[in-house]
Amino acid sequence: MGDLIEEWEELAKDYKQLETVNDTYLRKLKEISNLQQTCLKHLKHQRYRLNIMNKTIKHLQQSTNKDALRNLENDIMKREAELQLIEQSLPKQSGAYLKIVLGNIDVSFLNKEGKFRYKDEFEKFKLINHFIAFGLTIINFYFDFRPLQLLYLAFLVWYYCTISIRESILKANGSRIKGWWRMHHILSTVCSGVLLVWPESETWSEFKQQFLWYNIYNCFIQYLQFKYQRGALYRLKALGERDNMDITIEGFHSWMWRGLTFLLPFLFIGYTFQLVNALVLYNLSYHPKATWHVIVSSVLFFIFFVGNTTTTIMVVPDKIREKMRFQCRVMTQRLYNVVNEKVIKIG
Ligand code: COA
Repeated sequence: MGDLIEEWEELAKDYKQLETVNDTYLRKLKEISNLQQTCLKHLKHQRYRLNIMNKTIKHLQQSTNKDALRNLENDIMKREAELQLIEQSLPKQSGAYLKIVLGNIDVSFLNKEGKFRYKDEFEKFKLINHFIAFGLTIINFYFDFRPLQLLYLAFLVWYYCTISIRESILKANGSRIKGWWRMHHILSTVCSGVLLVWPESETWSEFKQQFLWYNIYNCFIQYLQFKYQRGALYRLKALGERDNMDITIEGFHSWMWRGLTFLLPFLFIGYTFQLVNALVLYNLSYHPKATWHVIVSSVLFFIFFVGNTTTTIMVVPDKIREKMRFQCRVMTQRLYNVVNEKVIKIG
């Protein structure tokens, strides 16, 4: 009993410490929340005043000292870029999709490390689920058992629904993910839902085998995408940490182009598969016993084909522009360093 009481007293001391730390934590959280609100208020105010100044500058174009006006315009542009940087560090309003699914909650991370961990975990989540999907596809190949097919399709509905929510959280935290990829995953949820409620029939039996092959190929592509996205994520993190604009950015770009040129042919084969699915389903829709599921799935696969192909084709010019922008920055930095060195020498 004596030992027990001693242990209890020791634990009570520990608990006091925990209470103090927790109090500090709650106080700091409140402070952070107040600081966030103050920053947002200042940000809004700055933007409001800059807007008014921009309008005034337009009226003054003809009447004032042109050089002074140009300098002021440049300063305002710089300030707008600075405000954008500040905005990125503050909590953002969730988009409409997140508001509908999760309600009006704040989904922003407090720091870069949190964002990085979430993105890394998102990529792993996709990979693990594609392994599970691969396993379920193989099982469905060997066992023609309706409950197993339903389990697989229900799994796909859950998976696509979950990643579309996670992608919206990433977007709310500043990810540059294109709108189409998020739309693609929302439509994939719908498509899996349609396949789930497609009753067992002659048309389903005819399409089933092709759908399973398509999913096997999709799992393979997802594995390649995982390798590419994870590589990019870790390299970008290293770049950000070292704050080195020179050889590392060039290194990153040459790695990225190698990754893309390897990945793109496999992606386009996947899109051709989607077009074939759409055409096969379209033909099946003329089957006398075809239900509405057939034509709706055909339309959805066709939308996937068009959306994926155009978005992926557009990635290439985007990347070239990005590369040129980076090269310009590197050149400017080098020039700046050379001039600086000369000035120091002369000085
Ligand atoms: N799904 C989710 N996120 C994606 C994405 C996708 N398909 N494609 C790009 N992103 C994300 C990137 O991770 C990056 O995120 P970040 O801003 O948080 O770092 C952001 O969007 C911007 O990426 P971007 O620079 O435009 O492209 P990228 O170099 O990362 O990837 C591709 C280019 C073409 C490799 C990539 O878009 C891709 O794999 N597309 C194919 C997807 C597909 O077709 N799926 C169906 C298979 S049948």
